Amino acid sequence: MSPSPAGTSSTTRPMATARGRWGRWATLALASLALLPGTAPAPAAAQAPPAAAPAPAAGAAPVVLVTGSNRGIGLEFVRQYAQKGWTVIATARDPANAPELQALAARHRNVSLETLDVADSAQVAALAAKYRGRPVDVLLHNAGWLGERDKQSLENLDYATFEEVLRVNTFAPLEISRAFMENVLASSQKKIVVITSGLSSQANTRRGGGLYFYRISKAGVNMAMRTLAAETRDKGLKVGILAPGMVETRLLRASGYPAAGIPPQQSVAGVIRNIENLTQDAEIVLWDGSKVPW
Ligand SMILES: NC(=O)c1ccc[n+]([C@@H]2O[C@H](COP(=O)([O-])OP(=O)(O)OC[C@H]3O[C@@H](n4cnc5c(N)ncnc54)[C@H](OP(=O)(O)O)[C@@H]3O)[C@@H](O)[C@H]2O)c1
Repeated sequence: MSPSPAGTSSTTRPMATARGRWGRWATLALASLALLPGTAPAPAAAQAPPAAAPAPAAGAAPVVLVTGSNRGIGLEFVRQYAQKGWTVIATARDPANAPELQALAARHRNVSLETLDVADSAQVAALAAKYRGRPVDVLLHNAGWLGERDKQSLENLDYATFEEVLRVNTFAPLEISRAFMENVLASSQKKIVVITSGLSSQANTRRGGGLYFYRISKAGVNMAMRTLAAETRDKGLKVGILAPGMVETRLLRASGYPAAGIPPQQSVAGVIRNIENLTQDAEIVLWDGSKVPW
């Protein structure tokens, strides 16, 4: 029931998450935000300002960085942005074992593959260091984990699963946004986008139940992105909280949704349109352009 590679359970997922980390989450989050340019002073060790990223060369293709790009919606983002001629930094936990992504990169010279487990802070920092000074127009937080359904029901609330789901869906987009903030602010478009879910909407909870951790994690990342938008508004950052709809992927099947979803091609085309039209409102917008109530 996990979107992890077949046969991978929550206990064997190659994640950096550990119970001890959870206790440090709030501290890390606050520390990350305190380091945002123009906010609270950084600790002495981190006071040297990051090297200014060079302005993009006139006529240079815009750049998108996609997390979780080896399958599902993320793979389709890579495909469509590559076809549009964008420079695509396609990240995945194990790109060497992602044949569809490899094939896309072989067909499109503008696609480069990078290893990134979004739950691994060291990998996040290493990738940010590698791309230091290079503008990123759209930072696209797509990677997501549903968590096993039977570990987030009223009958069985498994705390380790809660930690892992929050780490991937809520904390990672905030930490990666912090790590790549200078890259985004140095770009022409200055956009950070998280792929949320209609299940994050408090207004939509009258029917159904279950999937507690997934819903909480997506509601949490919405708030993280709203807060980020408020904090960076005067810097020209545009934050998108975009829902893809019910899309035919491994995650949808694992969710127990009884009907067929829309194809990733249709959803992603709509989400990319919404990214193009992004404002600084940071509303939740569905793939077809309609607003999702909070
Ligand atoms: N499908 C839908 O109906 C639907 C609806 C609403 C929202 N969404 C959201 O859309 C996004 C994409 O989901 P999807 O439907 O395409 O699901 P999917 O096919 O299950 O893909 C999930 C992707 O996230 C990656 N991922 C999970 N944990 C990761 C980690 N720690 N580090 C890096 N990558 C990680 C997976 O990589 P691995 O292969 O390495 O596990 C995979 O590439 C998610 O944020 C999801 O919550 C989907």
